[in-house]
Amino acid sequence: MTFAAFDFTPLYAPGLPAPAARWNGRVKFDFTGGNNDPDRLPLDGLITAAESVLRREGRGLAIYGVDNGPQGYRPLRDFLAGKLKADAGIACTADDIVLTSGSNHGLDLVNGTFLTRGDTVIIEEDCYQSAINRFNRIGTNIVGIPLDRDGMRMDALSNALDDLKRRGVRPKYIYTIPTVQNPTATVLPVERRQEMLKLAHAHGVLIFEDDCYADLTWSGQRPPAIFAMSERGGVIYVGSFSKAIAPALRVGYVVAPWDVMSRMLALKTDAGSGALEQMVLAEYCTRNFTKHVPELRRGLRAKAETLIESLREHFGAAVEFDEPKGGIFLWVKLPDGVDTMKLYDSALAKGVAINPGQQWSVNKEHSRSRLRLCFASSSHEEIHQGIAALAEVCRRDFGVSTLSK
Ligand SMILES: Cc1ncc(COP(=O)(O)O)c(C=O)c1O
Repeated sequence: MTFAAFDFTPLYAPGLPAPAARWNGRVKFDFTGGNNDPDRLPLDGLITAAESVLRREGRGLAIYGVDNGPQGYRPLRDFLAGKLKADAGIACTADDIVLTSGSNHGLDLVNGTFLTRGDTVIIEEDCYQSAINRFNRIGTNIVGIPLDRDGMRMDALSNALDDLKRRGVRPKYIYTIPTVQNPTATVLPVERRQEMLKLAHAHGVLIFEDDCYADLTWSGQRPPAIFAMSERGGVIYVGSFSKAIAPALRVGYVVAPWDVMSRMLALKTDAGSGALEQMVLAEYCTRNFTKHVPELRRGLRAKAETLIESLREHFGAAVEFDEPKGGIFLWVKLPDGVDTMKLYDSALAKGVAINPGQQWSVNKEHSRSRLRLCFASSSHEEIHQGIAALAEVCRRDFGVSTLSK
């Protein structure tokens, strides 16, 4: 559609982010985003659940929030309270949970409740791009803490907190993705969780725990949530159905004490997040979640193995990575000379989309030659072909030698 020419530019509010690019569809070999595996989507189960819950309770959609109040559809919050207790060790009730439009909405509510321009937040230095963008947009100072194979390094966290204290800065929170971190897929061990709690308490800092990949550890085991381990409170927890069921459903949640919940609800002015998704999820998950998730994990793990095999075959000794402990991403290091921001353009021209490391890190030097690959949404065949095409671009445009060790 073409619109009559009108110059909106002088009217825009100050401080808007850069304009979005137009959506041109997904490319043939798409290793970007946090997408899920279409073949593992429990479609039949969701169809059955939708039909049964709509026949039984569909008329409730005539009332905002299906008459369950601003925290969202109660049966889904009841399911979550049970699941969080069983899996993450979190003792909470439906009253401690608010359902949101994806956990990104949860990030906005928590950030909106606590952060203002000039505040300091501590994060894993390689971190979820959208969280980094949100902190930048609010105008916070971000302190990145390096990770090793076991996630955020507690020695570095301790030093950073001491350093900030010396400078008279009290950070608002430590934002962490401790269980299958994005992008590194590391899992923070229990001892480090204890240490983080100790440090946070000593410095009067909150912990903001983002746990959206926690269902996807290959072993099916996970350490208790930091939220569950805290004896003094001071932890806010956010989760999502995007990674265990489907990201297009847009259902996430925040767990917080009423003191914080009541502040978040005052900021949640959307008159309720989509109730239809909440109803279908409650109906489906109550009966099927514990059966579905192990099947999803098995499928994702097989794809991770295909990706690793393809990288070894087509890149030889030119790639380095730690094997992921679960999830949907591999965080890959190419030789130092490769700038993955440039690789992004060259690869896209050949129909391969990657996430360049610098967009997933606040350490620009360390992430320059790194990239994130999502293995969930491509088929095994596409993974093989896409990685072969990416290796060809690396050889041709970046002089990467892809011989085996
Ligand atoms: C760490 C992390 N948090 C939050 C989200 C947001 O997920 P959603 O809004 O789909 O629940 C993502 C999505 O990729 C993520 O990786």
